[in-house]
Amino acid sequence: MTGERRPLISGNWKMNHNHFEAIQAVQKLSYLLSANDYDAVDVSVHPPFTDMRSVQTVLQSDEIPVALGAQDCHWEAAGAFTGEVAPAMLAKLDVSLVIVGHSERRQLFGETDEVVNKKVKAVLAAGMTPIMCCGETLEEREAGTTEARVAGQVRAGLAGVPPEQVASLVVAYEPIWAIGTGRVATPEDAQAVCLGIRQVVRDDSGNAAADSVRIQYGGSVKPVSAPDLMRQPDIDGALVGGASLDPEEFARIIAYRLVG
Ligand code: 13P
Repeated sequence: MTGERRPLISGNWKMNHNHFEAIQAVQKLSYLLSANDYDAVDVSVHPPFTDMRSVQTVLQSDEIPVALGAQDCHWEAAGAFTGEVAPAMLAKLDVSLVIVGHSERRQLFGETDEVVNKKVKAVLAAGMTPIMCCGETLEEREAGTTEARVAGQVRAGLAGVPPEQVASLVVAYEPIWAIGTGRVATPEDAQAVCLGIRQVVRDDSGNAAADSVRIQYGGSVKPVSAPDLMRQPDIDGALVGGASLDPEEFARIIAYRLVG
């Protein structure tokens, strides 16, 4: 972490927790977090759509300074798109962050870079912040094409986004081989790719955007691995899957700065 970038630790719950479980999870998390945590770190939770209204009500009524996030959305404002959710519907629920282009969306649901780019723009247009995901497969890493793959995803995903908006958004580097596998990238490897992402932003959107854009690492982040990852100069946060489902584990990740 360098400069003015505030760390952002986000919990991507994926397709886990019904709305009762979600309420319990955020309440438990709020008991575990302190003013010191909120002073030092931005925190967000990204529940499934069905939980969102319940979680919003708890965060609001208990004045819990955890940001509400979504895991995806459609790019159109409204219309005949069965099963989809529009950005403005999320904004109305006080959602402030939307994950876009998660590798599971890309691999399992056929999302292309072009779709990711449309979603990034739609999220920004609705006044929310995209967390745009990128990351290589194991084959790409072994073939030595990680940097090119990730650079291509970042370039395509952010194409046509004005530099001042790029400055405000979040890029999540999530190597696919590290997601849900327990196999975390080494801090050095993660730092190298995150530096590369910042360089792509520098080349395409200028120094101000590159110095402000926040870059998260995601992929088997646990309380034990978070401190060394977060110490890297170009890693500004974490996108946490499995470990964010357990409030105690997630709170320990958020308290990474108290370790060592
Ligand atoms: P895990 O932390 O379970 O590996 O998931 C990472 C992830 O995909 C977050 O978006």
